[in-house]
Amino acid sequence: MKLIVRGKAKLRGAFSVPGDKSISHRALLLGAIATGETRVENCLVAEDVLSTARCLQQLGVQIDGIGTPSIIVHGVGGANLKQSEEPLDCGNSGTTMRLLMGILAAHAFESWLTGDSSLQKRPMDRVAIPLQRMGAKIEGRTERFLPPIRMRGSKLRPIEWALPVASAQAKSAILLAGLFADGTTLVHEPAPSRDHTERMLQAFGAKIFVKELTVAVVGPAKLKGTTVIVPGDPSSAAFFLCAAAVIPDSEVTALGISVNPTRSGYLEVLKQMGATVLLHNERIQGGEPVADVTVRGGKLKGATISGDLIPRTIDELPVLAAIATNAEGVTVIRDAQELRVKESDRIAAMVSELRKLGAQVEELPDGMVVHGGSKLMGAEVQSHGDHRVAMALAIAGLLAEGETVIHDADCVAISFPQFPQVLASLGAEVEMA
Ligand code: S3P
Repeated sequence: MKLIVRGKAKLRGAFSVPGDKSISHRALLLGAIATGETRVENCLVAEDVLSTARCLQQLGVQIDGIGTPSIIVHGVGGANLKQSEEPLDCGNSGTTMRLLMGILAAHAFESWLTGDSSLQKRPMDRVAIPLQRMGAKIEGRTERFLPPIRMRGSKLRPIEWALPVASAQAKSAILLAGLFADGTTLVHEPAPSRDHTERMLQAFGAKIFVKELTVAVVGPAKLKGTTVIVPGDPSSAAFFLCAAAVIPDSEVTALGISVNPTRSGYLEVLKQMGATVLLHNERIQGGEPVADVTVRGGKLKGATISGDLIPRTIDELPVLAAIATNAEGVTVIRDAQELRVKESDRIAAMVSELRKLGAQVEELPDGMVVHGGSKLMGAEVQSHGDHRVAMALAIAGLLAEGETVIHDADCVAISFPQFPQVLASLGAEVEMA
């Protein structure tokens, strides 16, 4: 599928986005190992979360309502998953593979985990090494544990682990394994990453403590099924909120999205760039802060995005780079080497594709420098098979003169199948072909 956008229309209106991807994965996974039923409302219906659901089914979990936003997971109550005869296909989803490895580390049978060509290039060592230390046997295709992964779980020991990179997936995998270990597992992070696992474990009744950059979980834990109401995904809303920030005379409101501070770094960046960002109707929903967020367009200036802000904006960096092309001055993204091991090398992908539109962008080993104020011209660009690159390029296309064609755009279905429809509902000219 190709996505075709025509530039220069202003965006206006209120919109909803589907449920948060990270929270949806976790609701299914925790529901699977809890005792009793877990009801998931507003669960994301998109390829990544379907990968988690299918893997869990293969491991013997009964899940009702797959393919709809209302799901019931019938928990197996502890380390009672069944061995899968077939390899577990995690598709494009790093979250599925890494979090599942944490759970399977406590299951004394052999599992094979694999994924698509993108996932097979992503290192699993950040999860495999600590899980080995806890007692699991894990092999990958290379020294960095590229998938396919072959593993055999066992009775686990608790560990104390300092993560070399701020990664919520790595943190979560260790915490999930820690649920099954005898004693307290401690994880130290170098900077705050998304904390949905910690919040949700609390809701499922686990003993979990957070102090500054350290999380402790006490095992063995007995999780109790609960109801999870998934807020709107801020990373999906970010495409429209960022676009509205930079397109003059635009104003859009995202209804009911997560404003968890570990996810809302992009709103801080938009404010720093000079946009008006307003939060209304702030509330706590299922342990997560939620609000309606309005962004009003204006003249933006460049910003520096680095340090602790990076893990809190990690999935929004491609779209922030896209709008920085139309800001005044220079935007610098540093300390973001993690972008190189996402669904694509997002630094290389965004630099090469934004240049095709006429942007002046320099590649750094750990980020990029975007020179604002260049006039973008519509062009043919490639998604690199990466959903967030495809959608960020569609937003860049809105800033360009004429027509931009994003090739290989089926991948938007990984996290946000309704992206073109929501974009059109706000007044953009967009077509699928
Ligand atoms: C995710 C964590 C982030 C993020 C990914 C989802 C999660 O990855 O980029 O899209 O659900 O835990 P890392 O934790 O590897 O940075």
